Amino acid sequence: MFNRLEAPGQDPILSLALAFRDDPRPDKIDLGIGVYRNSEGVTPIMTAVRKAAVELAQTQPSKSYVGLAGDEQFNQSITDLLLQGTAGHARSAAIQTPGASGALRMLADLIATARPEATVWISRPSYVNHQPVMEGAGLTVREYPYFDVSTKQVDESAMLEQISQLGPDDVLLLHGCCHNPTGADISMESWQRITEMAVKQGFLPFVDIAYQGFGDGLHEDGSGLRLLADAVPEMVIATSCSKNFGLYRERTGAAIVIGEDLAQAQKAKAHIQRLARGTYTMPPDHGAAIVAKILNEPALRAEWEQELNGMNGRINHLRAELVSQFRAATDSDRFDYFGQHRGMFSVTGLSAEQLQQLKDDFGIYVVAGGRVNVAGLSEQAIPRVVEGFLAVGA
Ligand SMILES: Cc1ncc(COP(=O)(O)O)c(C=O)c1O
Repeated sequence: MFNRLEAPGQDPILSLALAFRDDPRPDKIDLGIGVYRNSEGVTPIMTAVRKAAVELAQTQPSKSYVGLAGDEQFNQSITDLLLQGTAGHARSAAIQTPGASGALRMLADLIATARPEATVWISRPSYVNHQPVMEGAGLTVREYPYFDVSTKQVDESAMLEQISQLGPDDVLLLHGCCHNPTGADISMESWQRITEMAVKQGFLPFVDIAYQGFGDGLHEDGSGLRLLADAVPEMVIATSCSKNFGLYRERTGAAIVIGEDLAQAQKAKAHIQRLARGTYTMPPDHGAAIVAKILNEPALRAEWEQELNGMNGRINHLRAELVSQFRAATDSDRFDYFGQHRGMFSVTGLSAEQLQQLKDDFGIYVVAGGRVNVAGLSEQAIPRVVEGFLAVGA
């Protein structure tokens, strides 16, 4: 059976992580894999998460199956967190999934069930998994213009021009905030334009929000998504608790559907449950139980929000430091984009040769395409990053 298989290509991000691990240089710097690190270089377990986990270990009565939709209290709370105050809230249904990755695939399968001829439009560039996950579900994938590498900003007019061509067979996949990989987010004016076009042209907005709370704040980061949810008849959302609860390995996320009415949303949820039944069947419980507890106990929730704000503040502080140290070293504003971008990542526009030189000469590891994980930096590493970037001609 398996002798017919060709060896698959290596995942570029994971192979970079292995190369970093095997590099003996003590001052090496990992700007690759997308995890948040504190000033000690650790991806911490958040205090509220640890407290909730300890309490659950002592009080949870059973480890019996949770059911196809997962933890319904989690589903409700995570929906409230995203949609509270919007017209779509009352017409929504959610299912807990193994991370946003699971949600992306379940929603892709749902779309393929409802409309197999649909085309999913993703940004150029987009999160590496968007294309394979959508294609894995049998959907056609096309790209809309997004990042202008010369300005390091979103090319909003080119993006809007492409979106203005979409119709009822199209799905528009948007990043809710903190665009991965570029760090460049669309303006509120563009969210407004996209909302108007979705209503008029009838395409389905699909929002992937994996970094809520890592940009401008928990509430602020949902602003664009809420504009859509307030106006469009239908919409789907994939959300993640990997980053904002630090629950990466617990695989915690949700797929949310807004329908034309509640019955349609619930019908879509029943379809996702059937699709889940044919794959992983039920999501893992631990992470979702922790999130449900935190979101429903005011003291834990306040502690979580405070710590999340601290993480967000740290990322934006690192961004400000990069800007000021690059300004001091170059007497120019050409690295100001680090301060304009939001979330963990920034695309730097460095070529493959420059990335190789950074790795060889400075032990600085950046993934192909030039995406830097700002949230993995330490304050002490910044001068070396500035030196390395300038030495390779950035
Ligand atoms: C844009 C985007 N969507 C989804 C995911 C998947 O997140 P999860 O860990 O919840 O599966 C990520 C993770 O990096 C991401 O960046």
